[in-house]
Amino acid sequence: MKGIVLAGGLGTRLRPLTLITNKHLLPVYGRPMISYPIETLRRAGITEIMIVCGREHVGHFINFLGSGKESGVKLSFAVQDKNNAGIADALSCAEDFSDNENVAVILGDNIFEDDFSRSAETFTDGARIFLKKVKDPERYGVPVFDRTGKKIVRIEEKPKKPKSDFAQTGLYFFDSRIFSFIKKLTPSKRGELEVTDAVNQYVDAGMMEFFVVKGDWYDAGTIESLLETSIKVSKKESAFFPKK
Ligand code: DAU
Repeated sequence: MKGIVLAGGLGTRLRPLTLITNKHLLPVYGRPMISYPIETLRRAGITEIMIVCGREHVGHFINFLGSGKESGVKLSFAVQDKNNAGIADALSCAEDFSDNENVAVILGDNIFEDDFSRSAETFTDGARIFLKKVKDPERYGVPVFDRTGKKIVRIEEKPKKPKSDFAQTGLYFFDSRIFSFIKKLTPSKRGELEVTDAVNQYVDAGMMEFFVVKGDWYDAGTIESLLETSIKVSKKESAFFPKK
């Protein structure tokens, strides 16, 4: 499986920190944020990785990451021309790179403690998403379960009244159908092509499965969560960056 890290967007919730630099280059404890999702993929055994980012910062990413050798991965880079057109739009920039293979997609501001190597080994087709119980589900994509509580009937993006207390984290495994699903999307109310709407097409086709993430998980995309994530990582850095 190939890996894709999405590191575009404008990082508006982190202004003024993101006025002159990219969100994913801001520090989370001792490393730039993007190091964590790359490490999550590497630990899952996924080493052929594409970074998608906006045109203003692609040079900064290349300066920092180079070929990926120091991180134990092989990197390529793609530019999302319309920087804030949405997560699904950013993902569509990696279609040629995916070359009809399955892909593991991770959002550049997501920090995971869990090891996904077993999950990556067993993924065959459809879509696989990863959930985490949270106190503030309205910040995220939130699954709606059927009466049995075992099946997801849809995912709602940032619902005012969440129907469960789970968040859809920013890690997704997709088969090659994802790119035709993205082509059917129209912009959401916030003007973006939403990955959640693409996941819902897998749900409707009965091709989506979910797992619950073990250990800590953070979306470091706000000032408060960036600070909280740094503090949590500082207390157990080796859980996020195990010694190689
Ligand atoms: O963190 C998990 C959440 O991430 C999910 O629960 C939501 O369903 C999902 O929509 C997403 O929500 P956010 O509002 O946190 O997404 P954000 O706009 O912060 O974008 C997340 C990452 O995606 C960002 O760090 C970089 C990348 N991105 C985003 C946009 C809008 C791009 O590469 N290009 C873009 O145009």
